[in-house]
Amino acid sequence: MTTGTAITGHGVWHPDNILTNDELVAAFNEFVSRENAKRADDIAAGKREPLKPSSSEFIVKASGIKQRYVHDKTGLTDPERMCPNIPDRPEEALSAQAEYSVNAAKRALAKAGRTGEDIDLVVLGASNLQRLYPAIAIEVQEAIGARGWALDMSLGCSAATGATIVASQAIQAGTATCALVVVPELTTGHMNWRDRDSHFIFGDASVSLVVEKADRAKAGSWEILSTKMLSKYSATAIRNNLGYLDRCDPTTQFSDSKLFHQQGRKVFKDVVPLASKFIGEHLEQLGLTPQQVSRYWLHQANEKLNTLVAERVLGHEPTRAESPIILDEYGNTASAGSLIAFSNHSDDLPSGSYGVMCSFGAGYSLGSLMLQRQ
Ligand code: COA
Repeated sequence: MTTGTAITGHGVWHPDNILTNDELVAAFNEFVSRENAKRADDIAAGKREPLKPSSSEFIVKASGIKQRYVHDKTGLTDPERMCPNIPDRPEEALSAQAEYSVNAAKRALAKAGRTGEDIDLVVLGASNLQRLYPAIAIEVQEAIGARGWALDMSLGCSAATGATIVASQAIQAGTATCALVVVPELTTGHMNWRDRDSHFIFGDASVSLVVEKADRAKAGSWEILSTKMLSKYSATAIRNNLGYLDRCDPTTQFSDSKLFHQQGRKVFKDVVPLASKFIGEHLEQLGLTPQQVSRYWLHQANEKLNTLVAERVLGHEPTRAESPIILDEYGNTASAGSLIAFSNHSDDLPSGSYGVMCSFGAGYSLGSLMLQRQ
C-alpha cells in the first residue's frame, strides 16, 4: 500500500530566546505575590482564595518540559503584563506567522533540493492563525516565489499532520506536483500566562515539509505509505473561544475563555486509549506489527502521555530512540510537535525503516502518517 507521495525535505526553525522553567516560575510567582497583596483584605476576610505559586519541580514532573523557545521574553516575564510583546506590523510587511513559515520552509526546500519556484501548493496548518484573510499561506507563497495555490487550515494540534495529508492528497489528485507544508506555531500568543495550571505548557517554533510524488523523490526521502484522520467532538476538553465575533459581546470580549484552556486530566484520560487504538488500527490496516516500526514521532504535549500511548502500542515502555521526546527542549509546540520530532530524529534511520508520525489534540483531532524511508 502506498499513496505514491513522499516527504522529500523537512526543516525546523525556532526563535533564539530560551525561557527556562525557573525564569517562567519567578515571573509567575512575582505576579501571584502582587495579586495577593492587592487583594489582601478580601483574602483575610475569607472572601477570596489566595492565588497559589507555581514550581519548576512540578512542571518537570507533570509534563517533562524544562524550557521552551519564545518569540518575546520581555512581556512574558513582566508580572504587570504576563503576555508576549508582539508589535503589529504594517500591512505591507511580512507577518509574524509568514516569517515563521518562511524560516522553516527555506530549510525544508534546501534539504529537498528544491526552490520556491518548484512549489505549486502551499498548505499552512497551525492551531492559531493570526488573521482571517488574506490567507497567510498566500503570503508565504508570494514570499518564496511559489506558483499555483495556497490555503490555511486549522485543526488544533492535528493541523500539521492534517496539512501534510491534504498536501499528499492534492498530489495524488493531480491538483499539485510539489507541495510545501508550513506550520508556524507562534503559540505563546494564545496562552494564559496568569493561569498556574497551563502557564508552562507551550513554546514557539515552526516546521516545514516538502511533499512530492514518490517516483521523483531522491534516496533518503520518506514515502507516505498511508494516512488516517479521525475527529471526535469534545466541547470542553481543550478550547480557545477567540474569534471574529468577540467584539460583538463586550461582556466576554477579554475573558479568559478567549485564551487556551483545557481539562488536563480529562484530556490525558481520553487521549491515551483513543490515540493508542488509532495507531494500532492504522498499523493493522497496513499489515505491520508495532515492532516492525523503528520510530514513533508522536504529538508532543506531555511526556507521560506520550510514553503511555507508545507503551500501549508497543507493549513495552518505549526507549527515546523508539519514541523521541522534544518536549524538554521545545515545550508543547502545538501541531508542530510530531513534525519537529520527525525532522530532528529521522536522518539516522536506514533505508527501508518504517516510522509513524501521529498527532492528537483539540477537537479531539487525530492524524497519522505511515512512512517508509526510501
Ligand atoms: N505548580 C505547582 N503545582 C501545580 C501547578 C503548578 N504550575 N499546576 C497545578 N498544580 C497542582 C494542582 O493544584 C494539583 O494540586 P492538588 O493535588 O493539591 O489539587 C496538583 O498540582 C496536580 O494538578 P493536575 O492539574 O491534576 O496535574 P497533572 O498531573 O494532571 O498535570 C497537565 C497537568 C496539564 C500537565 C497534564 O494533565 C497534561 O499534560 N494533560 C494532557 C494535556 C494535553 O495533552 N493537552 C493537549 C494540549 S495540545
